[in-house]
Order: sequence, then C-alpha cells, then structure tokens
Amino acid sequence: MEQTLLARYDRPVPRYTSYPTAPHFHAGIDSALYERWLAELPADQPVSLYLHIPFCDTLCWFCGCNTRVVRTRQPIAAYLRLLEQELALLAERLPGRFALSRLHLGGGSPSLLLPHEIDRLLGQVWQRFDRAEGAEVSVEIDPRDLESGVIEAFAAGGVTRASLGVQDFSPQVQEAINRRQSFGCTAAAVERLRRAGVTSLNIDLLYGLPHQSLERLQESLSLSLDLAPDRLALFGYAHVPWMKKHQRLIPEAALPDGAERWRQAEAASAQLLAAGYRRIGFDHFALPGDSLAQAQAAGRLRRNFQGYTTDEAPVLLGLGASSIGSLPQGYLQNTPDLPAYRKALAAGRLPVARGIALTDDDRARRALIERLLCDFAVELDPAAYAAELAALDGHRRDGLVEFDGRRLTVTERGRPLVRSVAAAFDRYLAPAEQRHSRAV
Ligand SMILES: C[S@@+](CC[C@H](N)C(=O)[O-])C[C@H]1O[C@@H](n2cnc3c(N)ncnc32)[C@H](O)[C@@H]1O
Ligand code: SF4
Repeated sequence: MEQTLLARYDRPVPRYTSYPTAPHFHAGIDSALYERWLAELPADQPVSLYLHIPFCDTLCWFCGCNTRVVRTRQPIAAYLRLLEQELALLAERLPGRFALSRLHLGGGSPSLLLPHEIDRLLGQVWQRFDRAEGAEVSVEIDPRDLESGVIEAFAAGGVTRASLGVQDFSPQVQEAINRRQSFGCTAAAVERLRRAGVTSLNIDLLYGLPHQSLERLQESLSLSLDLAPDRLALFGYAHVPWMKKHQRLIPEAALPDGAERWRQAEAASAQLLAAGYRRIGFDHFALPGDSLAQAQAAGRLRRNFQGYTTDEAPVLLGLGASSIGSLPQGYLQNTPDLPAYRKALAAGRLPVARGIALTDDDRARRALIERLLCDFAVELDPAAYAAELAALDGHRRDGLVEFDGRRLTVTERGRPLVRSVAAAFDRYLAPAEQRHSRAV
C-alpha cells in the first residue's frame, strides 16, 4: 500500500517555510521598498532577528545550506565587520528602538566564531535592541569545531538554546557524507553546553542518507536519546544535486529509495514516540514539557524559515548574506553573493536582492498552509477553495485527508504526506515543478 501511495504522491514539493516559497521571490523587491516597509512597522511590537554565518571548516557533501568552506579566519573576520554594518544600517532604518523576542544565529556554523567575535557581535546586537520579556536566544552548533570559550561566550551573550548537528552516528554513513563526528565529541559538546547554562538542546538527524539502513538510523536515534535532548529534528535528506553541485559527491546508488525512506521515517517516529517524545509537525519531536510541544498542544505552533517555532512575532529581520526576512508586507532575501553584499553595504544600502509583496490571497493561503503543517487540520470556506478541495479528491479516497464540509483534517496515514496536501493550496506551484525535494 505504501508503494502505491508513494507512486502517487511522492513528488517534489516545497517545505513551506514561507508562502509564497523562495523560488517565487523576484528582484522587483529592493532596498528602497524594504526601507519603506521597515518605516511602517509599529515600534511597540517585538521583532525577531536572524543572523546568518555562512562559513564552515569542512563541507558535508549532503549540505543544502548557504555556506562555504574557509581555511583561514580572515574571511570570517571581514564578514563580521559587514554584518555589523548591516546591523547598524538596519537599526537606523527602523522607526524606533525595538525589543527582540527571538535572536537566532544560524549558518553555516556560527560555532566557528571565536569568543571575542561572539562577544563583539552579540554586544552590538544588544546595543541596538532591547530584550523582550521571555526572549529566546539560540544558536546552531557544529560539535566538531568548538574552540575553548566559544560556548561560554554564547552563554554570556544570552544564548539559552542550542541546536546541534549530528545527522547520523554510523561511520559508514559519515564517510559517505564527509562528516566524521564521534559520539564522544557530540556528548562532550552537550555536556559543555549544559554546564554553561545552555540547557535547551535540539539534535538534528537525517534519514535517507547514503548507506543508511534502518538499523543504523535506529542506532543513531538511540545514541541521540542517550544525550536526552529536549527536541529532535528528523529531516529527510533533500538530494538536489542540480541546485547543490557538491551533492554529486554523494554516492547515489547508495541512497535509500522512496519506500525505504518511508520505512525509515516511520520507524524513527515510532522509536521517538516510545521514548516519550511528542511528534511536532512533520519533522520535529519534543519532550512534553518543551515549549514546542506546549505550543503545538495550544494550537500556537508556527512555521518560519528556521522550521517549526514558538515565535509569534509578526516580524523576522534577516541579517547576513542569503538571509530571509518576513514582514507583514512581504518577504525579503539578502544577496547570497559576498562581493554584492559588501558592495551594497559600502553604498549604504541594505543588501536586499529579492523578495515578494504579499497579496490578501497570499496571506489567506499562507495562514491555511501554516495551520495544515502545524495542526494537521484547518477550517476553510469550501466555496473559496472548491478547486483545491477537488484536487484533493485522490488524497481523500486514499484516506490521507478528511473533509467535513468545513474542516480539512490530515489523517494519521496522511501525516507523512502533509506537504503534498499543503501543495494543493499553493497557487504558484507549476504542476511539473522540479525545484523542490521529494515529499517523504
Ligand atoms: C546549518 S546546519 C546545522 C549546524 C552545523 N552547521 C552543523 O551541521 O552541525 C543545519 C541543518 O540542516 C540540515 N540539512 C542540511 N542539509 C540538508 C539537506 N540536504 N537535506 C536535509 N537537511 C539538511 C542538517 O540536519 C543540518 O544539521
Ligand atoms: S551541514 Fe552544517 S557543518 Fe556541514 S556543511 Fe552544512 S552547514 Fe556546514
């Protein structure tokens, strides 16, 4: 049965970390418009800030992130000066002093920064923004590149939550993805984080990797569970070598097929549920006491460019090359090209390269897709979405969704295919679109 479902629904679909999705951003949205949008923001609402650090010391061949490998510190130091300039420019363009509800450092590997660089960067942020009540500061950590003092510097800058990249612990898989990371190194990072007061921890794991059998995945999960993280992200490996050229180094013949990916996702889910975790959306798990699980239980779970989040701020400001921001008026993306990023800042311009202004229809569909992905159910007006509901007839017949005339519900069986349900409401999605990764 799974085979039939896979044949029917395992098509390339977006992950919906935004709607409209990033491939539909265009160059018509520039820094002048961004400045106008910023000027319209009400200063009494908290905002979120994302800082992108696009550097790593080695390249994992599966990586889909915007990053580059550096062998010396000079490019990082030069980039941090630019990031500071962007921060200063952005703060000048905002109509007042704002409080941050979330600050997230992602990458690449922010853990590659040195303690004095972290002190300075976070110092500059807190010079320009206040901390909203209940604010959360989080960082992505590569356990393999942690110099001494790095975690302590993050903690001193207010970080309380960290996400550690693991992917898989088996040496054969690690060899095939060019990422050698022992359990001991990961456990040491976890211990250092907790000792420094960074106590909310997430671990990133992948399924669908080359040479990854069910047993190897289960063993990686068991080892991860020994570290007792509050959350686990279990992403399906997105193999998109036409977009990420280095993924050609992944031995394709060793990749599990669709049916095996499905089995891996199901088995991993069962293992984590048995260990006491709750399923959050389609790719996260959290302990019942964790804020993500609580937000889901209360219908307050959200989705943004970092995936599932508890962040309810209506504004996400993205800083750094390739960062994406979300404002009530629309989305913006900075240029990923470092020379262009530098040039814009030298000219006193925010380095926006593209984006999209939201229509009322976009907003309605965005809300609908977000609820589907967060709650697996949404109330909708059948007259307004007749064509979309008709397009879901097959899903209904296959027991993947139910519709009672008002409420569309994704069934247990349909959960792994929720992105394909959401895609029925995506007005921008061309039928033969090949730019995304597979649904499962
Ligand atoms: C920026 S990295 C995490 C921090 C750090 N750079 C590290 O790898 O330890 C973000 C996460 O994205 C996920 N990721 C990267 N490339 C992916 C791909 N092609 N498909 C699915 N997930 C991917 C990985 O789980 C990775 O941990
Ligand atoms: S997965 Fe993380 S460490 Fe590996 S290349 Fe990507 S960003 Fe860098």
